[in-house]
Amino acid sequence: MSFRRTLGLVGTLFAASALAQSESTPATVTAAEEPAAAAVTELTDAHGPTVPGNVEAGQSKSAVCAACHGMDGNAADPQYPKLAGQHERYIARHLGLFKSGERNNAIMLGFAATLSPQDMRDIGAFYAGQNALPGMADDSLISEGEHAGKKFYQVGETLYRQGDASRNIPACTGCHGIAGSGNPGPPYPRLAGQHAPYTVAQLTAFRDGAAHGKGDNENIVMAGVAKYLTDQEIASLASYIEGLHFQSGTAGSK
Ligand code: HEC
Ligand code: HEC
Repeated sequence: MSFRRTLGLVGTLFAASALAQSESTPATVTAAEEPAAAAVTELTDAHGPTVPGNVEAGQSKSAVCAACHGMDGNAADPQYPKLAGQHERYIARHLGLFKSGERNNAIMLGFAATLSPQDMRDIGAFYAGQNALPGMADDSLISEGEHAGKKFYQVGETLYRQGDASRNIPACTGCHGIAGSGNPGPPYPRLAGQHAPYTVAQLTAFRDGAAHGKGDNENIVMAGVAKYLTDQEIASLASYIEGLHFQSGTAGSK
């Protein structure tokens, strides 16, 4: 008889005696207190009620999301954001914001409503480990205006890397990284490879003052960053970002 089988047998005996015991002596059970609704900050806080996400659990919980975001988080339709390679805590934070209505989107409210905080982290861990497929930056030449002669994405590239101090626009690299990988800690979202139409919509909303979250959860950083961007700059930034190649799947799930 192998060691493992011997152990297995002992385990079975143990389980049997535990079962017998629990049948003969009914235990007194105090009902656990109903947990208070989790604040969104708690969802993403390492000291919150959740533990780091489980990739396998997240994969099965994400099946329902595939129709729009793709099986591996690489949405085929550019109106839906890619989630592949996105940081676990960013995904969990935003699912929490959709669920509470602090990020207003009717479609995502429906999909987030049934998720627990732990589901959100599990799903986040699954997508964080997927590879984001990069798109293509638009390199057609700008024919008129102050940027005439440049490639379309180059206006965005310069802003992304250097910002424009004269107009209070910070460099995007400061938070989103030179390769668009973001930062899993704060969390700053990964941008590299994102569909340009989605990024244009987000940056335009930020410029109009949109901030995701309310009260303590509110993050007004991007509303400040985008305030002075022109339409052309937003479109060019989005194109540059779509073409950024970032080795993802290595983003980590923290
Ligand atoms: C019917 C289409 C559809 C389905 C299904 C769907 N989503 Fe979404 N999702 C969207 C749209 C549209 C947006 C963009 C919302 C906006 O513009 O604010 C979005 C945005 C998101 C974002 C924010 C991304 C970012 O970069 O900020 C996350 C996270 C997300 N969805 C996760 C999920 C998860 C997890 C599921 C499954 C439980 C899911 N979605 C199912 C359409 C969908
Ligand atoms: C000081 C840090 C900081 C700087 C600088 C910054 N960002 Fe952000 N950005 C953030 C944070 C934080 C978020 C997420 C906000 C949230 O979770 O509500 C974000 C979100 C975004 C999003 C939405 C991503 C998504 O998946 O929905 C885009 C697009 C974006 N930033 C683009 C830019 C661009 C372009 C620049 C440079 C012009 C820039 N950011 C500069 C911190 C920054």
